[in-house]
Amino acid sequence: MDLKGKVALVTGGSRGIGRATCLALAEEHCSVGVNYNANEAAAEEVVEQLKKLGVDAQAFRADVSDRAQAKALIAAMMERFGRIDVLVNNAGITRDKSFLKMTPEQWSEVLLVNLNGPFNITSALLPQMVERQWGRIINITSIVAQMGNFGQANYAVAKGGLIAFTKTLAREVARRGVTVNAVAPGFIETDMTSDVPDEVLDVVCKLTPMARLGKPEEVARAVRFLAAPQASFITGQVININGGMYM
Ligand SMILES: NC(=O)c1ccc[n+]([C@@H]2O[C@H](COP(=O)([O-])OP(=O)(O)OC[C@H]3O[C@@H](n4cnc5c(N)ncnc54)[C@H](OP(=O)(O)O)[C@@H]3O)[C@@H](O)[C@H]2O)c1
Repeated sequence: MDLKGKVALVTGGSRGIGRATCLALAEEHCSVGVNYNANEAAAEEVVEQLKKLGVDAQAFRADVSDRAQAKALIAAMMERFGRIDVLVNNAGITRDKSFLKMTPEQWSEVLLVNLNGPFNITSALLPQMVERQWGRIINITSIVAQMGNFGQANYAVAKGGLIAFTKTLAREVARRGVTVNAVAPGFIETDMTSDVPDEVLDVVCKLTPMARLGKPEEVARAVRFLAAPQASFITGQVININGGMYM
């Protein structure tokens, strides 16, 4: 799975699954652009770790939900690295509320980051990948898109849309050397799940054959596999990483 000479952009690379993905790619000698929105210190810490692994890396601030910032991010990465071979659309947020109480703002905010974000970034980058006849796009969706989840209508819709986007784009660029796949994690130990009440996590564990939450590294390894040149005949797929919770 040698990614030497390749350059990856990981959105939301400063924390959680994105951070683990940056490190997993760097272990295979991939240079990495670490995108973040607010947490500069966390992004710079990731860059430091990446450099210790011997790869070129830089942090880039951009709110992926803002089209102009997304375009500027791709332009800045192209200027710095000259190419982007691997895109991991990972940045995501939750604004949980039961649907009866969900405000239009909570609905829109989640769609803007989790669905418009991948649109903004991918549309800015895709022409370059198509021109070079090589690219790997990996979208981080969720088990919630497959099963639904109480209090997450906004999030489930965004992540379900991302699966539909993955399959459609995969068909459109299949003959252009670009693969498009999704990874659907179950419940993973990150800041995102740290607010989930313990009693809910207990239920999650009971419903999971492996009876535990996943670790960010367990997701990152699948992303790295899909990014590798060896994954050349895999496109339009959703890889589930959920301890067996959804089969
Ligand atoms: N954790 C889980 O159980 C789980 C399960 C299934 C799917 N997922 C998905 O996996 C992805 C990563 O989740 P996580 O658990 O690692 O989340 P996390 O620990 O909360 O980290 C979120 C990351 O996204 C970045 N981000 C948030 N809004 C952004 C924006 N508007 N523009 C750019 N970056 C932004 C954050 O940057 P800052 O550091 O600057 O805030 C941070 O790096 C998300 O798409 C999430 O939906 C997570």
